[in-house]
Amino acid sequence: MPLPKAELHLHIEGTLEPELAFDLAARNGVKLRYADTEELREAYRFEDLQSFLNLYYELMTVLRTERDFEDLANAYLTRAAAQGVRHAEIFFDPQAHLARGLDMRTVVEGLWRALGRSEENHGVSTRLILCFLRDESADSALETLEAARPYLDRITGIGLDSAEVGHPPAKFRQVYETAAGLGLRRVAHAGEEGPPEYITQSLDLLGIERVDHGLRCMEDPELVERLVRERVPLTLCPLSNVRLRTVDTLADHPLPAMLDAGLLCTVNSDDPAYFGGYADDNFRAVRESLGLTEERLRELARNSFLASFLEDDEERRAR
Ligand code: HPA
Ligand code: ZN
Repeated sequence: MPLPKAELHLHIEGTLEPELAFDLAARNGVKLRYADTEELREAYRFEDLQSFLNLYYELMTVLRTERDFEDLANAYLTRAAAQGVRHAEIFFDPQAHLARGLDMRTVVEGLWRALGRSEENHGVSTRLILCFLRDESADSALETLEAARPYLDRITGIGLDSAEVGHPPAKFRQVYETAAGLGLRRVAHAGEEGPPEYITQSLDLLGIERVDHGLRCMEDPELVERLVRERVPLTLCPLSNVRLRTVDTLADHPLPAMLDAGLLCTVNSDDPAYFGGYADDNFRAVRESLGLTEERLRELARNSFLASFLEDDEERRAR
């Protein structure tokens, strides 16, 4: 039995398995430039974050209708439940869909058709986190937040993803401030490929409550000390790090050193259809390659609930 856990770093578009991509392409009359799922899988060899993002944005063009987003989310929730996921805080990238002519309603309501029934259908509670694409402008992020306003009852928080280097958190200060004023929770990808300063900036300028990835904090001992002191959770994604070559091999992953340093680490799957594994696959991979003890694995599972927005929400409602 997989350990019960929360998944806190999961891009719903990154759960698009090749088979579903081809099914949706056929349903929507979208032509993919791959002959079949086998040929598509051949393309899953990435040099870095950007080479992955190119395929990620290309394949998501098969998503066109509410039903497509519903099917995508249900496929993920089915797999997640089988891997012990009891709670999932799910990222989505509306700008990537709005840019190709879809509207916010199609995306959010489509996802919600699955998420709104996830507890009954899958035994998984969910939250939705709207991510801004950091390689788009700050104005575009603000416009996206405006477009999401009618759907804020469906959206718990905001995040920041896509190409990191050259797009420092400071660029998004205003949109994070506006979102905070709307009562939205705040997270951001930082320190995946970008420098440790991006983590510091995200904390100081964006007011984030959790760091997505945050791997490169290990290059800055003072930052590590701060993250430990302030109990800032990190959402690590080990299989993603290997596939995007952020680490050479899983055996080189700094997770054990990060736990030893006292960091509040969690293990997540990021874009599982592309990186070779869902939540428990990541747990099993770190157990096997890094020799983590059962006690360490239980700590990681416990951390995932501690770092989630679940309990705070309930406390907030009770107040
Ligand atoms: N990093 C940054 N942006 C992303 C990722 C990621 O791992 N996945 C989807 N968008
Ligand atoms: Zn990510």
